Amino acid sequence: MTMLKDVIINKKTDINPIWIMRQAGRYLPEFREIRKKNSDFIKLCLNQNLATEITLQPLKRFDLDAAIIFSDILMVPYGLNQKVEFKKNFGPLLGDINIEEISEINEDDFVKKINPIYEAINSVRNDEILKNKSTIGFVGAPWTLLVYMINKQSPKIKLKDNFFDDDILIRKILIILEKFLKIHIKNQIKSGAQIIQIFDSWAGLLEKKDLLNYIYSPTLNLVEYTKSLNIPVICFPRGINDYKTYCETVKPDAICIDYEVDPIKISKNIKIPVQGGMDPKVLLTDKENLKKEAKKYLDIFKDHPYIFNLGHGVLPETDPNMMDCLVKIVKDY
Ligand code: CP3
Repeated sequence: MTMLKDVIINKKTDINPIWIMRQAGRYLPEFREIRKKNSDFIKLCLNQNLATEITLQPLKRFDLDAAIIFSDILMVPYGLNQKVEFKKNFGPLLGDINIEEISEINEDDFVKKINPIYEAINSVRNDEILKNKSTIGFVGAPWTLLVYMINKQSPKIKLKDNFFDDDILIRKILIILEKFLKIHIKNQIKSGAQIIQIFDSWAGLLEKKDLLNYIYSPTLNLVEYTKSLNIPVICFPRGINDYKTYCETVKPDAICIDYEVDPIKISKNIKIPVQGGMDPKVLLTDKENLKKEAKKYLDIFKDHPYIFNLGHGVLPETDPNMMDCLVKIVKDY
């Protein structure tokens, strides 16, 4: 059993596995080298060989305990025939939704369109470097995908005012997303993913009254589905205030926390294994501060099953030497 699974399933507290959200990406010069020659990000995600190579890049440098497959949560809207582009210095830009067209897509069309992702997972899983380490597959949570699909770009601070106006459209999309996210989860597992993480990056945008409809129940369905396939699932509802109610309602196997919550409160109130928390900006400071901050989390979760990670993705301006230092701090703890 890998360290990661041992913490999640057997609730081990004497080991601290580490992996980092967005570990494969823009802060690594070897990624930027490949990216320079591949201006179409979607195509890059669908290049089996390059996606495999990029996934393994951080593992060649650092003693991480898991690989997260190089892909994107927006590959699902792409698979559903919504136009998805990544514009430089802007982020994702999506096309209009044609609900009739999306409603007609079947499993075969969807899988065919994004199949190289599954091939890449398969080759990552079989790479020698992943012996005794975990391969993590992922999806965006229905809510966060809905936000991108309707808003068509990052909502940054606020959703557009008329976001909830077309209630029928929203309900239709949520049903379609549930179906295809399950297909995407199933195929990642079939190809070798041993853990699934559900990213709900925009969970913090909703008011309490809307959590049940848009977050709790659609995410619970995916969690239950993943568990039914005997694969542990980690949820990351970034910015959700009430992690305790989230855990009790959605029942993930482990919870990934963001950098704005108080880890002491989490360690007291939450019984399931915890992942993450440290502010990615700490990696932009100096090694002494990094040590202090990393130790803070390790100390707080000393008697709690804990997977080291950050409270959001690693920032592009991070010095890879700081990442190296962080991995060593966690391993030497
Ligand atoms: O974690 C990993 O290393 C695996 C790969 C991964 C990417 N995106 C690659 C990527 C994962 C797990 C994601 C998840 C993702 N994508 C999320 C959830 C996590 C989060 O950060 O909140 C979201 C919201 C997206 C959507 C997305 N993709 C945005 C907003 C952007 C642009 C801004 C940014 O962060 O780069 C992307 C592009 C993207 N996805 C890049 C990478 C490496 C950068 C592409 C580039 O080089 O321009």
